Amino acid sequence: MRRHEALLRQLAILHPLIQAPMVGVSTPRLAAAVSEAGALGSLGTAAAGIDEIAAQIRQTREFTAQPFNVNLFCHAPAVADPARESAWLDYLTPEFQRFGVQPPAALREIYRSALGDDDLLAMLLALRPAVVGFHFGLPGTDWIAALREAGIVTLACVTDLDEAALAESAGVDVLVAQGFEAGGHRGIFDPARDLRLGTFALVRLLVRRCTLPVVAAGGIMDGGGIAAALQLGAAAVQMGTAFVLCPESAANAAYRERLRGAQARPTGVTAAISGRAARGLVNRLHQLGEQTSLRPPDYPIAYDAGKALHQAAAAQGNHDYAAHWAGQGAPLARELPAAQLVRCLIEEWHDAERATAAH
Ligand SMILES: Cc1cc2nc3c(=O)[nH]c(=O)nc-3n(C[C@H](O)[C@H](O)[C@H](O)COP(=O)(O)O)c2cc1C
Repeated sequence: MRRHEALLRQLAILHPLIQAPMVGVSTPRLAAAVSEAGALGSLGTAAAGIDEIAAQIRQTREFTAQPFNVNLFCHAPAVADPARESAWLDYLTPEFQRFGVQPPAALREIYRSALGDDDLLAMLLALRPAVVGFHFGLPGTDWIAALREAGIVTLACVTDLDEAALAESAGVDVLVAQGFEAGGHRGIFDPARDLRLGTFALVRLLVRRCTLPVVAAGGIMDGGGIAAALQLGAAAVQMGTAFVLCPESAANAAYRERLRGAQARPTGVTAAISGRAARGLVNRLHQLGEQTSLRPPDYPIAYDAGKALHQAAAAQGNHDYAAHWAGQGAPLARELPAAQLVRCLIEEWHDAERATAAH
């Protein structure tokens, strides 16, 4: 059996394609449209409380009976450091003043980690989504065992061999190999340790050294990219940026406009927006991050400042502080309904495979 066929069976999907979970962008409609088209749709849940996540799962089920993936952020909780936070706010104060507002007096940890949240686990075990994925690390092995016992397939995002070994020994089912090209937050387990491996090298390392199926993520935008990733030994691909322009996504008009013009606006990785390294369309906050030796506060405390600044600027029509996450392939993003995009990607993949076979 070809490598991807075993994973298709495990995930109960038709195509070796996962729409990436994307907090702020993925929606129940997007996930359901992708799953209905035979790929795996995903919900990004990190900004939501348990009731909201449960509501998203139920809503997705109203649109599709097919499997989908629920993604959890498993970061170590932020360590508050008032001196670091006030130095960061002082640094950003002139930017707030450009828009006639003062920075917040203090910063909060705006997203909770899934780690140790047993009510969240209980909800997932009660609702049993077909797939649960982990970003920024792993939950405890008791969680992973409980999810698996409930028949839920578990995915873990990894960015190097050490993280992959941890995921394998913790008992997850599938490795998502996130290369440095990828849009959104780097899935690194320890924010201070990033080997910045590209998708190509990472997929080969994991395929050669690990036993679990590997899903390639980062910079894949079309069927040619899918064919290449599968040729490298990946069992499927996970694509995020390619789905941002879908009408079912929650991306706002400014984000869409910038992504359509991505040719003129390269992507870059910065921790200045949220406190953790993430790739997006380069903006004023990226530049501010580069122009200082200050370390932004811990994730997601820095995000509180970034969002407040974005809000102040956006109120005056300036979107240069937004989290417009996008991968290096951004100029290739297409504006198609999700089901049509999935069909098109799969056709392109088959065409690319036929072209290779004909040589
Ligand atoms: C807008 C956006 C938001 C993202 N949010 C999440 C998220 O909530 N959880 C997650 O595991 N990955 C997230 N990612 C990363 C994706 O899972 C994936 O690694 C990435 O999209 C692959 O690279 P590509 O964007 O070049 O396809 C996000 C990516 C983007 C573009």
